[in-house]
Amino acid sequence: MAKIIAISNQKGGVGKTTTAINLSSALSYLGLNVLLVDFDSQGNASQGLNALKYNDQPTIYNVLLEGLPVRDAIVHGEKTKIDILPANVSLAGADLIMDRLETGKERLLKNALEPVRDAYDFIIIDCPPSLGLLNTNALTAADSVLIPVQCEYYALEGVTQLLLTIRMVQKTSNPNLRIEGIVMTMFDYRTRLSVDVSQEVRQTFGRLVYQNSIPRNVKLSQAPSRGVSIFEYDTRCKGAKAYAALTREMLHIEEDI
Ligand SMILES: Nc1ncnc2c1ncn2[C@@H]1O[C@H](COP(=O)(O)OP(=O)(O)OP(=O)(O)O)[C@@H](O)[C@H]1O
Ligand SMILES: [Mg+2]
Repeated sequence: MAKIIAISNQKGGVGKTTTAINLSSALSYLGLNVLLVDFDSQGNASQGLNALKYNDQPTIYNVLLEGLPVRDAIVHGEKTKIDILPANVSLAGADLIMDRLETGKERLLKNALEPVRDAYDFIIIDCPPSLGLLNTNALTAADSVLIPVQCEYYALEGVTQLLLTIRMVQKTSNPNLRIEGIVMTMFDYRTRLSVDVSQEVRQTFGRLVYQNSIPRNVKLSQAPSRGVSIFEYDTRCKGAKAYAALTREMLHIEEDI
């Protein structure tokens, strides 16, 4: 049965999608079956892996709100071995519709993923940059949350807010939700700010923070334009090495991928 990990931080542009794509890809290179769920109406994970092919293609919206079987919307990766449940702009209105449901509005994603949970080792959910109902659905479906934190000012405020939301979900709809870890992203060891923020986050959250940070690496921002993860784009670059190391650390594996 798949372990479900939500990649979440309500702050925009902190590296959620980049982490979701490259963690999923690293896991698949380890021989694990991975489903990447795009849960953001921006559709960045879907676009970054070339998973949106034609108009009216079924997406997670049809699964969540129109009862389409989840298997009918899953796209099999072309250049990567990851399966993708894509999203597009139609998801933008979903939370309003979901909010009108009388019961079970937090559990729609959990229920939608249930039929495929046995088919995968990991299901990775790329969350939107908000703390609305979509995020609550992701946290209710998940076993754990992985939190990317960008090395910049105000990093801590966002995390504190997210931790409150996690506690709320633990109390209401998912008592077993754990924090998988916090990963520092876009780390630039040459800047004082990166070093200071990273130190502050480590002092505040201690062992929740992964030893491996993700450096700022332009190749990580280029790979999506080719529809591939960093491991197909340039397996030797710093970004690829960092995501491979992070994945090993998450799985408690010592040797190289
Ligand atoms: N380590 C990195 N080095 C360089 N660029 C990066 C890195 N991580 C992410 N980026 C770039 O920064 C931008 C934001 O990253 P990303 O889309 O992963 O963030 P996000 O948290 O998913 O954003 P949103 O909140 O809008 O969904 C993207 O252009 C991405 O390519
Ligand atoms: Mg994103």
